[in-house]
Amino acid sequence: MIEKTVFAHRGLNTLAPENTMAAFRLAHESGAKWIETDVDIISDGTIIICHDTTLDRTTDHSGGYYEMTASDIEKIDAGSWFSKQYAGEKLPTLRQLVDYMNETGLNANIEIKSNEAGAEMTHALIDGVIAELARLDGPEVIVSSFNLVLLYILKQKAPHLSIGALYETCALYDDWRSILELLKADYIHPEDTGLTRAKVKEFRDFGVGVNVWTVNSAERANELFNWGATGIFTDIAHQINQ
Ligand code: G3P
Ligand code: MG
Repeated sequence: MIEKTVFAHRGLNTLAPENTMAAFRLAHESGAKWIETDVDIISDGTIIICHDTTLDRTTDHSGGYYEMTASDIEKIDAGSWFSKQYAGEKLPTLRQLVDYMNETGLNANIEIKSNEAGAEMTHALIDGVIAELARLDGPEVIVSSFNLVLLYILKQKAPHLSIGALYETCALYDDWRSILELLKADYIHPEDTGLTRAKVKEFRDFGVGVNVWTVNSAERANELFNWGATGIFTDIAHQINQ
């Protein structure tokens, strides 16, 4: 069980465009041991890194990427929107991130997005992630998702992978114990909003690690760790003592 882990959320996304290799490099260079990132799949089976299901917010393109191929993705600029300095940054593939992890020893929470293109593509996404993560040679990984059905299938196919069940506060009903047990989850990843000391204790007493998102204050991070949280996802990893 990892303890007091600081996950640089989407890389060091306050200083570089989120979910780009530049953001992962900056996280590593600023001392982060773990990053968090989001993955989905495109039409040729390539697993790409992108938070949203459309390109509108974080690239120079708009619309979805499900129909695209790897060569289409290479033409997309995912850095200019952030600053001129990052013009030409690409949407990375999971393969590129795994290579970087192997090179540097950086660890990662891989959040699998809830693919909206149906069961076939969701299975391809799960299989693609498992195949890419099999190339890891040393670094640690946690796989998380808000899509708990997807996470269940992944754990059935790859029981060796540690998994974290993502919960928004509004979806955290009293069946969480049953769900975590069915999933064979190693971690719960609850939203910070409304999270109490008592709840963190219940999770830890149940036997899972607790990694909280998204915590952008050093004081709140300290409080959560003192309550027994095992990790926090943060946009300011460089400002939090690790
Ligand atoms: O994995 C923690 C956090 O990233 C979950 O929310 O929307 O930032 O992917 P989101
Ligand atoms: Mg995420």
